[in-house]
Amino acid sequence: MIKRKNIIKIAIDSPAAAGAGTQAKLISKHYNLLQLDTGRAYRYIANIKITEPKKFNYKYLRKKIDKLKTKDLQNKKLLSDKVATIASLIAKDRKIRKLVHTFQLKCAYNPPKKYDGSCLDGRDICSVIVPDADIKFFITANLKTRAMRRYKELKAKNNKISYHEVLKSIKKRDKSDVNRKISPLKKTNDSILINTSNLSIRRCFLKIKKIIDRKINI
Ligand code: C5P
Repeated sequence: MIKRKNIIKIAIDSPAAAGAGTQAKLISKHYNLLQLDTGRAYRYIANIKITEPKKFNYKYLRKKIDKLKTKDLQNKKLLSDKVATIASLIAKDRKIRKLVHTFQLKCAYNPPKKYDGSCLDGRDICSVIVPDADIKFFITANLKTRAMRRYKELKAKNNKISYHEVLKSIKKRDKSDVNRKISPLKKTNDSILINTSNLSIRRCFLKIKKIIDRKINI
């Protein structure tokens, strides 16, 4: 694998709907980094399982992942709760994780030249994908806050779903992500804990920015 030298690598792990994606976008824009929401790759595969169930096998998935562009991950369909639930199920499969890993490593270690580095967020980024990241964050928030945020987000997109359904679904996903055997969600000792429960998006970003600036000596 080609690894670009002297790039900034930021790794973020978080449970569902903790605000990590929003922060990753702000960080990436501010520091000119390639951003990858790694959950989207699992959601992309989950969507194949829903839309092309007959073609769902490793060989076909490998072909799709080899051709995968970050643009393909912008598909709005990937944001539904159904896709998220299936993503969390297929994410337990070692072979599927392996397929996605190659794509993630390419983004993390060899981002296009126009970027000064990369910022990946997911569940196993600090522990497995970018263990040598320059800065690692574990972004979290309490369950009810996360469920309410995701509920409002889905509601704004006209999804017919109740707060209780969202709460239940996030709880289930937390359980599955934390307890699975392969690459479970876990805070690594070297990552900085950010609890966003009582922080606005702006306040949270300023907190994170302060930490990054100190680390890279701006
Ligand atoms: O972050 P997001 O909610 O989009 O992730 C969807 C699912 O993909 C998660 O619940 C998790 O099971 C899986 N995932 C993972 N490893 C990552 C990112 C996501 O297993 N690095």
